[in-house]
Amino acid sequence: MLSKKMVDALNEQLNAEFYSAYLYMSMAAYFEANDYPGFANWMVTQFQEEQFHGNKLFKYINDRGARVKLKAIAAPPIEFESVLAVFEETLAHEQHVTSLINNLVGLAIEEKDYATHNYLQWYVSEQIEEEKNVSDILSKLKRAGDKPQLLYMLDDKLGQRVFTPPVEE
Ligand code: FEO
Repeated sequence: MLSKKMVDALNEQLNAEFYSAYLYMSMAAYFEANDYPGFANWMVTQFQEEQFHGNKLFKYINDRGARVKLKAIAAPPIEFESVLAVFEETLAHEQHVTSLINNLVGLAIEEKDYATHNYLQWYVSEQIEEEKNVSDILSKLKRAGDKPQLLYMLDDKLGQRVFTPPVEE
């Protein structure tokens, strides 16, 4: 059985995952408005990833016989300074999510909740992937600098991203 503290923390994380989805959809809207359909596509795919992360938590809380409690999702920012600024913000956000997952793992250890600890390892690995994907894009963006043709080439490449559900354990 999950402790109340653990259920509350998992519900908080559920909210954080859906906020992430909302944030990336807002970034997609910014890219659509600024004629970068490929970057927008990447962000919509990221939105789907975050929904997957949230749905997975929803299932776990239910499977353990606890109660999912949905809270209000905060409004994300709407305007951004540049393409580079969006991806810098994305990396900072993913690093923040990694710290939230680490806190959850810490709580599971504290509570001697080894089932949840085991379950959270999927998120620990997923965060490595999430941070790496954004870091790779950031490196390319920095190399492209302000050369529009390189930016458009990258936009084209990211337009090819399709959502494939992450492998579940
Ligand atoms: Fe759900 Fe991007 O972490």
